Amino acid sequence: MAGRIPKQFIDELLTRSDIVDVIDARVPLRKAGKDYKACCPFHEEKTPSFTVSADKQFYHCFGCGAHGSAIGFLMDYEHMSFVEAVEELAARAGLTVPREAGAAFEKDKDTGADLLELMREAARFYRQQLREHPQAGRAVEYLKGRGITGEIARDFDLGFAPDGWDNLLRALGKDENTREALARAGLVVKKDSGGYYDRFRDRVMFPIEDHRGRIVAFGGRVIDDVQGRTNAADAAEDRTPEAAQGGPKYLNSPETPLFHKGRELYGLFHARAAIKRENRVLVVEGYMDVVALAQFGIDFAVATLGTATTRDHLERLFRHAPEVVFCFDGDRAGREAAWRALDNALPVLREGRQISYLFLPEGEDPDTLVRKEGQEAFLARLKKAIPLPDYLFDTLSRQVDLGRLDGRARLVELARPLLSKMPIGVLRQMMLDRLSELSHMEPGKLPVSAGNPDQRTSSPRAFRPASSGPREPPSVVRLAIAMLLQRPELARNVHNEDALADLDMPGISLLVELLRVVKATAEMNTASIIENFSDSEHKQNLAKLAFWQHPALDQDLEAEFSGVMSRLDEASARQKTERLLQKKNTGELNQAEKDELARLLSLKRDNSRLSPSRH
Ligand code: UTP
Ligand code: MN
Repeated sequence: MAGRIPKQFIDELLTRSDIVDVIDARVPLRKAGKDYKACCPFHEEKTPSFTVSADKQFYHCFGCGAHGSAIGFLMDYEHMSFVEAVEELAARAGLTVPREAGAAFEKDKDTGADLLELMREAARFYRQQLREHPQAGRAVEYLKGRGITGEIARDFDLGFAPDGWDNLLRALGKDENTREALARAGLVVKKDSGGYYDRFRDRVMFPIEDHRGRIVAFGGRVIDDVQGRTNAADAAEDRTPEAAQGGPKYLNSPETPLFHKGRELYGLFHARAAIKRENRVLVVEGYMDVVALAQFGIDFAVATLGTATTRDHLERLFRHAPEVVFCFDGDRAGREAAWRALDNALPVLREGRQISYLFLPEGEDPDTLVRKEGQEAFLARLKKAIPLPDYLFDTLSRQVDLGRLDGRARLVELARPLLSKMPIGVLRQMMLDRLSELSHMEPGKLPVSAGNPDQRTSSPRAFRPASSGPREPPSVVRLAIAMLLQRPELARNVHNEDALADLDMPGISLLVELLRVVKATAEMNTASIIENFSDSEHKQNLAKLAFWQHPALDQDLEAEFSGVMSRLDEASARQKTERLLQKKNTGELNQAEKDELARLLSLKRDNSRLSPSRH
């Protein structure tokens, strides 16, 4: 979506807007030194760690890690889309948002406004069919058979897609443009021959809302014989996509401009107030689980949409509540899924956030269980959900013999890669302490690294140079990146990106890319630079480095930066020399390579003569 508005405009917008005004109008800020502070609007806290920098035009919370430019703030705080946030800022700055080729049509496509309208109409249509269609009796019977009340069906806007190829198409597809849009929204399918047909046929329809309550997709369940599925084992079996006569049991909207499965959670918008009230959110597997739980007053549940829980999901959930409880089947598949979920959970797990696991009896899902046992019993189970740290250590301890020295060593070995995934902080330290107790190994001797370089800066502690204990020397590359982010104009004196690009060092490609981005634009601030990386995995990292407070960054930045760059130069020369020497030993060097090697070797001699202490 972002690509349709020219990049240069975003850069300009971010240099013309003032993030301090934008945020202050919504979250009153207090001046603190060079920056501004407030209690973070994205997590609960009593002392302000939410920091807004006018220089960098960027905000960062040292408590929860939330960060972004003025655009990002509007998206997160006001739940605006990227385009809406850009439009809002542009309006404030008195700019009009330019569009790349195909403007008028693209505009609608961009905001998805036309598609959203169609989704609303489709939901209305399906709802109406559930009341009025001659065949609706089947769907109503089915829902009743599953114990769903009319009230809860209305509450979740359930609908009915009648059997047939063109019910929706005839109702909404008045002209070719609209039919085209219906296809883009995933509601109808375009045939090779050019015609269209309804995607959802003879199904109970569950509208899927995004975090702002806009319908962005549907899930449709086949209407099968209720009697035939009272056996829970049978129900688990028809998980295989083509099990039921009418295709997969649940047919979901495809990925569309509006809908990305790995990002949305069914029921989140509906449950948001309850989640806030409860301070926790329950994550289940299925649509029906969410609906059934809500019917029994457990209204703070959401479902992933047939995917594993992603980090995106978790970050989003933790914005709503500090505690996430995962519900898993007690069978083997469920336990395996639970263990896999650890992988995504550990990197986002830090003090203030809790994750627990609720394992259900074999063959049950929340829907069947809550109907069988009722609300109280289910809530009682929820109380006994296993905290992630216990789950982790219990599972690992069961795999080894803690009575033996080599068993305890094995435990350390198993736990090591997992704990290394966690951001540095109090929680991680406490888990290390627990490992030390279980393994009888002194905490200081545990071979768990201080976190990989990506995580080293991801906790509040890493930002405080004053924190006690030995500090790891920061990598030169990270320092260079941080310096560039904090003072982009430093890039002007760098002319050796190409040589750097060959350097084999973690983070080097990001540094090179950053240099190129900064140099390609005349005027840039920290926020607009980071916005250039908004689609990349590096954004989070860059945001943290932009606020990194390393002593080297308080000094004369220009001198420090040139020092750092010459260290990289030397490293690059050293690596190149080694590569060439190796090649010389194992094969032929061509003339150019011979010359290069001679040059490098003489350079090395000069350097060691100039600074003998270094060699
Ligand atoms: P389950 O197969 O566990 O079904 O799928 P369920 O939720 O218990 O459904 P009922 O109770 O039989 O109605 C769990 C989730 O996996 C996705 C859906 O999101 C479903 O809610 N799924 C499942 C699909 O997307 N497609 C399928 O064919 C099956
Ligand atoms: Mn079920």
